[in-house]
Amino acid sequence: MSTALVTGASAGLGAEFARRLAREGSNLVLVARDQPRLEALAGELAGRHHIVATVLPADLSTVDGRAAVADRLAKDPVDLLVNNAGIGLAGEFWTVSAAELQRQLDINVTAVQQLTRAVLPGMIERGHGDIINVSSVAGFFPGRGSSYSASKNWVTVFTESIAAALPPGVRMMALCPGFIHTEFHQRAGIGKPALPGLWLAPERVVADALADLRRGRVISIPSPQYKAIVMLGGLVPRALVRRGSGLFSGRDRT
Ligand SMILES: NC(=O)c1ccc[n+]([C@@H]2O[C@H](COP(=O)([O-])OP(=O)(O)OC[C@H]3O[C@@H](n4cnc5c(N)ncnc54)[C@H](OP(=O)(O)O)[C@@H]3O)[C@@H](O)[C@H]2O)c1
Repeated sequence: MSTALVTGASAGLGAEFARRLAREGSNLVLVARDQPRLEALAGELAGRHHIVATVLPADLSTVDGRAAVADRLAKDPVDLLVNNAGIGLAGEFWTVSAAELQRQLDINVTAVQQLTRAVLPGMIERGHGDIINVSSVAGFFPGRGSSYSASKNWVTVFTESIAAALPPGVRMMALCPGFIHTEFHQRAGIGKPALPGLWLAPERVVADALADLRRGRVISIPSPQYKAIVMLGGLVPRALVRRGSGLFSGRDRT
């Protein structure tokens, strides 16, 4: 029986990864800060799918929180790591406190690097293992005034760079979705842009992500609309991309 560790599993996309993987028969290690919420989900999934679901409460913005998860990954093998936890922030870059910006960087970037570094040696030794790093379509574009876009660009390029050097049997994929109906915008205190046809259900994103991983893709962009946006964005001059970036990334968010 395989085991998956999912960060940010208490809500949104991470909770959907947990549900889908449990249905497939995978044991789970669920990571986030909200212990009661993690326990409720673990209990529900263990009862329904006869899997082992354990919780590992941790704040990935802290040194101790990241170390606890990294230790678990280094000591006890997992078959799949989903680096999913991530946050956005309201306000322009220069209005958000330096501490909040650092917290975002530590969750969106430092945790991804540290947990990947912790899990990969065992996967390479066993010749088997998968990592999904949840990035964003935002990472392909300069988000107006946005450190979030830069953090997601890091996740995508990091994933492509490491994936190119992995031995057969070990896979790493960046999942780059567009807007998803989760708690993300509400938690950040940012409005949900009215862009009909561009909002995706977490179920769809997770189904596409796992299918792409199993096809050996290194980048997964769920839904034809977003594939087209990313393709067109790569064709038009960068100056035009910069001018148009406010349309999708919105304003007053970082
Ligand atoms: N929603 C979108 O439109 C969208 C689009 C593209 C990419 N994404 C990416 O998708 C990923 C998942 O986001 P989501 O949309 O599912 O957001 P969400 O519904 O707000 O869920 C975020 C998850 O991250 C966890 N988390 C937040 N801060 C944490 C911390 N300090 N330590 C540990 N866990 C933490 C939260 O749990 P606790 O509060 O319990 O810690 C929660 O489980 C993120 O990487 C995001 O950037 C989202």
